[in-house]
Amino acid sequence: MKVTAIAPSNIAFIKYWGKKDAALRLPTHDNISMNLSNLLTTTTVHFDQIYKKDDIVIDGEQKEKDIAKVIAHLERIRKKANIKSYAKVLSKNNFPSSTGLSSSASGFAALTLAGTVSAGLTLTEKNLSILARLGSGSACRSIPSGIVEWKEGIDSDSSYAVSLFSESHWDIIDVVAVMSNEKKSVPTTEGHERAQSSIFYETRLKKIKKKIEICKQYIKKKQFNKFGELIEAEALEMHAVMITSHPPLLYWLPTTLILMKRVMQWRNEGLACYFTINTGQDIHIICQKKDEKIMLNKLHSMNEIRKVIVNYPAEGAHITDNHLF
Ligand code: PMV
Repeated sequence: MKVTAIAPSNIAFIKYWGKKDAALRLPTHDNISMNLSNLLTTTTVHFDQIYKKDDIVIDGEQKEKDIAKVIAHLERIRKKANIKSYAKVLSKNNFPSSTGLSSSASGFAALTLAGTVSAGLTLTEKNLSILARLGSGSACRSIPSGIVEWKEGIDSDSSYAVSLFSESHWDIIDVVAVMSNEKKSVPTTEGHERAQSSIFYETRLKKIKKKIEICKQYIKKKQFNKFGELIEAEALEMHAVMITSHPPLLYWLPTTLILMKRVMQWRNEGLACYFTINTGQDIHIICQKKDEKIMLNKLHSMNEIRKVIVNYPAEGAHITDNHLF
């Protein structure tokens, strides 16, 4: 059966950085994210005996490294469903991939849902999240809806994401400022491996549980400024670990720094806005829906920004009838 799924990318408020089990993609600690309404992957999967091999096209391309990861995931699905047929897979992102906007999260979440249904499986949200995690860690957070927590777990079956708050809980937005289409120089997987070489990593781990609890309280009570301060400091903390890893990882461009300082300046002028950044040069500005227009005006006036993408909290991976082939 041909099946199509749409899945959102997500932005972590409390980051996943470092694994305690690389093969199983078990994170060293719990983490929290929000699904993004406008950074989407759509994927159609068709397992059928008519195919002589897996045929995979992502954004019109067949890059060897990406294809190998997708085939490994199709293998996991075939094993689970106890089938032998190959699959045709067509996938498209509505945003640039490999620049730090987490296309692997949306990609593996969409592939997991479309692939398992096409293979005849009906998995629970928990089991979809576990399977998506094996494809790409943060993909497990793109399965449930809204604001999501990934529980680190102690083994594969206990490491998955659950929804903490639905997508309508809070009127916050994530305005993504794309600074460049430059692909990241060091892949995220390698970054995770380097995390523990930072002298700050142990200190981070000691304080992370408490930080997560406080973050959840701020979200629950909708205390925007406290929440914003916490997540901006959290992003800087993760980047401090990256910069002090061996060899160091520095994902920012000069224009990234310009916008970070601008966000701080706007805040000093009274606009409630905070930034967070992943493994790339692009910035996610978190603000309240009521300030969307003001924020867009400010961003559109900056020559350093190539593109602006507005995101609302979104539902997780879901099926659609609009097939790509
Ligand atoms: O899921 P991965 O391996 O692409 O790692 C995601 C890492 C960060 O984006 C930097 C943080 C996060 O929690 O999304």
